Amino acid sequence: MDIDWDRLRDAATAMLERAYAPYSRYPVGAAALATDGRIVTGCNVENASYGLGLCAECGLVSNLAATGGGQLVAFVCVNKDGDVIMPCGRCRQLLYEFSVPGMLLETVSGIRTIDEVLPDAFGPRDLETVR
Ligand code: THU
Repeated sequence: MDIDWDRLRDAATAMLERAYAPYSRYPVGAAALATDGRIVTGCNVENASYGLGLCAECGLVSNLAATGGGQLVAFVCVNKDGDVIMPCGRCRQLLYEFSVPGMLLETVSGIRTIDEVLPDAFGPRDLETVR
């Protein structure tokens, strides 16, 4: 699948105006290409109970499920200036759950695979033995 990184970054940047980040003042927008070609997006949503804040990736994976499911082919997230940032560790795990093998991310050090940013990941396959 051909990945239009400019379009994906634009979609992530557009989410910045929906971000709710009054506490950190650090809005984040995220966008991903799903296996069926649709673009799913998310923004961070903070909470007065600080620890309950949701990262942009939380909204994105929820949006993926809510709009028909599928898997993630490519992902990017940006800060308020539209600069690419790294997904936090927890969010790499969230993304991994729904990633196609070799899913790509635009990162601060260029295009990387999910395995590069989350090596030896624990995932759904690790739970197969207990089923
Ligand atoms: N944030 C995200 O939304 N995604 C990340 O991957 C990094 C951090 C949010 C969480 C919090 O609302 C703000 O950025 C500052 O940490």
